[in-house]
Amino acid sequence: LRTVNVGLIGLGTVGGGVARLIKSHHDEYLAAYGIDLKLTRACALAWEQAEAAGIEREAFTSDWHDVVTDPAVDIVVELIGGEHPATEIFTTAFENGKHVVSANKALLGRHVETLAEKARACGVQIKCEASCGGGIPIVSTLEHDLVGNKILTIAGILNGTTNYILSRMDAEGADYADVLADAQAKGYAEADPSADVDGFDAASKTAILASIGFGTRVTTDDVYQQGIRTIGAEDIAQARELGYTIKLLGIARNTDAGVDVRVHPTLIPADHMLAKVNGAMNAVYVVGDAVGETMFYGAGAGSFPTASAVVGDILSLSEQISRGVVPLPEIEPYGHNLAFKPMDE
Ligand code: HSE
Repeated sequence: LRTVNVGLIGLGTVGGGVARLIKSHHDEYLAAYGIDLKLTRACALAWEQAEAAGIEREAFTSDWHDVVTDPAVDIVVELIGGEHPATEIFTTAFENGKHVVSANKALLGRHVETLAEKARACGVQIKCEASCGGGIPIVSTLEHDLVGNKILTIAGILNGTTNYILSRMDAEGADYADVLADAQAKGYAEADPSADVDGFDAASKTAILASIGFGTRVTTDDVYQQGIRTIGAEDIAQARELGYTIKLLGIARNTDAGVDVRVHPTLIPADHMLAKVNGAMNAVYVVGDAVGETMFYGAGAGSFPTASAVVGDILSLSEQISRGVVPLPEIEPYGHNLAFKPMDE
């Protein structure tokens, strides 16, 4: 039996789900893995938020410094998003010898290399399964299960909001603005819908997946990006007449000429697996030189699906900690293979 102490920062949709999942499944984790997972510290702006997530009064703080400097905490879980103070949370946690689990695609899409270097120097790990595709286990699949391959293509529906909008426009001939408002009401959309509809969110996720899948260094700025604002009902109807469906895809291709990374509305043959992914669901299609075509499907957002990915990372680190393995950064996903070389257009 090993107690693993978790410090959670951010108790919004995902953080609240993580707190609830750890609480409801505590005994199963203990029985299955011998891990006594404790939510030792939890940080939110207001106590009411923590109370609603079932946090104990003595674990609560409104200052993230209390979490990352607490000597008892083994793993810091950053779920506030954005660049600041998330960057400072990561670096202070590393300096205090703590692993970091995060869903922060905006930060990792831009600065994963610097953060990974800092983590390595401090002998700790970053885990970010929840940053791409919500509950779909795609980061660990690329990091572990498919490492025997040269990954040739990653093509994903990585933003649920835009897929929800495009699916409803297609099925009902619905108006873009009405469907966007509905997606926001359902909690899929980012606070600033531009992150979704202009492709920023998908670009961050594509950069992370390309970096890990290709073992190279792709940042969000390397990703050609075009969103869905200009797609109208007529475009969708015309595409359908020609036998295609329009999806916002994040596409990363690993070719001899270089790495090509892009996010844009894409015409997909109506009989392709990706064309059948509707609503707020996500899917990632991966082609490896040994495995061939693979496809991963699931909820790309939402409290429990995303919490599933976060808790998977926490348990994976906990298992290493409980085995007494000094969990050195187990992978060198960023830069062992290729230098990023944009493909000539
Ligand atoms: N706004 C994102 C989406 C949330 O719609 O997919 C999950 O990253």
